[in-house]
Amino acid sequence: MKSKILSVLREADGYISGQQLCEELGVSRTAVWKVIEKLKSEGYEIEAVRNRGYRLVESPDVMSKAEIESLIETTWAGNTIQYFPEVDSTNNYAKRVGDETGGHGTLIVSDKQTAGKGRRGRVWESPAGSSIYMSLLLKPDIRPDQASMLTLVMAQSVAKAMREMANVDAKIKWPNDIVLNGKKVCGMLTEMTMEMDYIQSVVIGVGINVNTKHFPKELSHATSLYLETGNIVKRSELIAETMRQFEYYYGKFVEEGDLSGIQEEYNSLLVNRDRDVKVLEPSNEYQGHALGINEMGELIVKKEDGEFVRIYAGEVSVRGIYGYV
Ligand code: BTN
Repeated sequence: MKSKILSVLREADGYISGQQLCEELGVSRTAVWKVIEKLKSEGYEIEAVRNRGYRLVESPDVMSKAEIESLIETTWAGNTIQYFPEVDSTNNYAKRVGDETGGHGTLIVSDKQTAGKGRRGRVWESPAGSSIYMSLLLKPDIRPDQASMLTLVMAQSVAKAMREMANVDAKIKWPNDIVLNGKKVCGMLTEMTMEMDYIQSVVIGVGINVNTKHFPKELSHATSLYLETGNIVKRSELIAETMRQFEYYYGKFVEEGDLSGIQEEYNSLLVNRDRDVKVLEPSNEYQGHALGINEMGELIVKKEDGEFVRIYAGEVSVRGIYGYV
């Protein structure tokens, strides 16, 4: 009921009477009043004026199941939210849910992770109060070789959502980091559960530095939306917008069976495009010039000897020769 009341308050143009709220929700005035009091105690500023009703003046950067649900407008992406103030890792949780009854589009969100995971076995520092840690569970009907493309679909969705919500020049560092002014603001970790040659589920984990004010010295390449803009961004709104974008781009991916429907837009957001890059293969390292992704999401690089190579996501690292990107 909390998320429904929040949605109605948000959609109302000004005040909405207690009576109207009761009718829309089919509950008593006392029940409405209790929820309003609870929302106020969570930091929502709600004005109550006799004979006029209630008006939502300001919602804080709270993350809760009700808050996220009241903002989500998608058909399936994020249609089931599981929210935790604290969890080991949203990816681990999503995998557990995926093994059981969790359906396609379930979104796990936490305010804090006690065992946040980065790529290549690294730790993802996950303190409470300022970041987004979320994992989207997918049960896609695709071949295992198509799965790495899903991370690129998410990268595009997060970059677009950040542009929309925070008005920033968010770029993608292939395959799936998001950078702002050359610093990392978001990382993603995709994990797949397979049975023989069939995908059981895919979990796309997304960590976004939203309102972080300080990073430890060893994370000098990291930044947050707040540090780049000076503005607090509401995490729940960014989550909802990311789901909206993801549903749209995922639709294009499913339609084509590859990234041809989003390739052009992805390349326009690609920070490595037309840049010199260093390709770090497990046992080899070379320099080249990155041209953009193909429809499979592979990065096309022109080596110094003129040879064109296709780099498969996840196989190698690509670094800008100067600075982080
Ligand atoms: C990276 O850039 O190394 C990937 C970082 C991925 C972090 C996110 S936070 C939510 C999800 N849960 C995890 O344990 N990791 C991912």
